[in-house]
Amino acid sequence: MASKKDKTVFFCTSCGHEEPKWLGRCPGCGEWNSFREQKVQDAFSPLGMDLKEMESPKPRSLDSISLKDFKRRTTGLPEADQVLGGGLVEGSAILLGGEPGIGKSTLMLQIAGEVAESRKVLYISGEESLQQIKLRAKRLGIDSSGLSLYCESASETIIHTLEEEKPSLVILDSIQTIHSPGQGLIPGTVNQLKYGCFELINWARRRRAVLFLIAHVTKEGSIAGPKVIEHMVDTVLHFDHTGNDLRILRAAKNRFGPVDEVGLFRMDGQGLQQVTEPQGLFMENREGQLPPGIAVAPVFEGSRVLLVEIQALTVPAKGGVSRVFSDRIEGSRVSRVAAIMEKHLGLKYSDQDIYINVAGGMKVSEVGAELPLALALYSARTGIPLPSGLMAMGEMSLTGEIRPVPQLKRRLKAAGEMGFSTLLIPALSREAGNSQTGVPLHTVKAADIKQGIKLIFQSTPK
Ligand code: TYD
Ligand code: MG
Repeated sequence: MASKKDKTVFFCTSCGHEEPKWLGRCPGCGEWNSFREQKVQDAFSPLGMDLKEMESPKPRSLDSISLKDFKRRTTGLPEADQVLGGGLVEGSAILLGGEPGIGKSTLMLQIAGEVAESRKVLYISGEESLQQIKLRAKRLGIDSSGLSLYCESASETIIHTLEEEKPSLVILDSIQTIHSPGQGLIPGTVNQLKYGCFELINWARRRRAVLFLIAHVTKEGSIAGPKVIEHMVDTVLHFDHTGNDLRILRAAKNRFGPVDEVGLFRMDGQGLQQVTEPQGLFMENREGQLPPGIAVAPVFEGSRVLLVEIQALTVPAKGGVSRVFSDRIEGSRVSRVAAIMEKHLGLKYSDQDIYINVAGGMKVSEVGAELPLALALYSARTGIPLPSGLMAMGEMSLTGEIRPVPQLKRRLKAAGEMGFSTLLIPALSREAGNSQTGVPLHTVKAADIKQGIKLIFQSTPK
């Protein structure tokens, strides 16, 4: 019987599909002649990585494990630190995905420049020449001797260089260019990516460095490349457009922090500038009376309150079948709120097509945005504009009641700072304007949507 040592598998160098026997054509991707034989103990295993990296294979009691070595360092960009959960963690790997042109290389070079002021940084590029990167660095005003650039795509050579240079921060731009000569000759195949990244991640863990892997995204918006890379890294970041000219950095996975914080940037001639006061950026600048169908909601995006403008439009449905067109707020939520309005206010929505948009392209998933959504729907359907200076927040129950939302105080404060004068809030809320927040706001408390609508038109100061 063959010992485990001699056992081999065949895998497709194009898609990574494994078979116990050699095949001429891969059943996974249809590629011809792509199978190679490999010893089982060499085969890729994310689990193997974890076992290898453990300092001691023996179980250890919780209280004997020290956090002394668990250090965070700043990226030099507070917006990025916030998304990372407070900064870079030594020995960790971060995958940064985004569309071409969004600014991944720029962001990474800026972080590299900041970190290189105090520590050694290696920026590895398989996409651009040294001159191209130097030109970008010049544009960004980066001129640090602590930052080295390196154009190389063979993982073995890279590891060798890393061992010599021992940088504290390594950036690979991008994973799509890496190849591992041991895994066939074509760069960019699934196995090349897996092995190449695996080796780099392992190196960063061992040497307590921080590794950034840059990746492109597919048309559908997911990170291009094998999913297993997302499992191997500690943090997955997405860099995206918001719809206005802002760029938003978010964490989709973070072993060292929450995933709901966002970082906001704006690209100008000198690179990415951090946007630190974003409160009002998701609103249209309007003067005087609002058009019908507009309501403003203060929603939480991580630990920050953003004011977003919800826009509603209703038009008679063709054939009498109502449809909802809403990609920023979930369609089922829009239908539910419209049904509540129909039932409790007697306004007809079931023969209307409903269009919902959020200015600035922000996706809104908070339940507290249901009351402003209801107001926008009311205003759209009746043609009556909501009073300007009004902001609302609350969750809608099927009975038409308005339910309280968490962290009302913070939302009130943001509303006051942005010059809103009247707040419609759930009757059961404990907080009110003036006394607790120091903001001169007029708060209107309503128990249900019918009372809410009545009160805002009665009591809004002109
Ligand atoms: P880049 O970082 O190369 O994007 P990615 O690596 O995600 O593909 O840059 C994106 C765009 O930003 C590019 O079109 C040029 C532009 N840009 C500026 O507007 N200002 C700048 O200072 C820099 C460096 C780039
Ligand atoms: Mg790039």
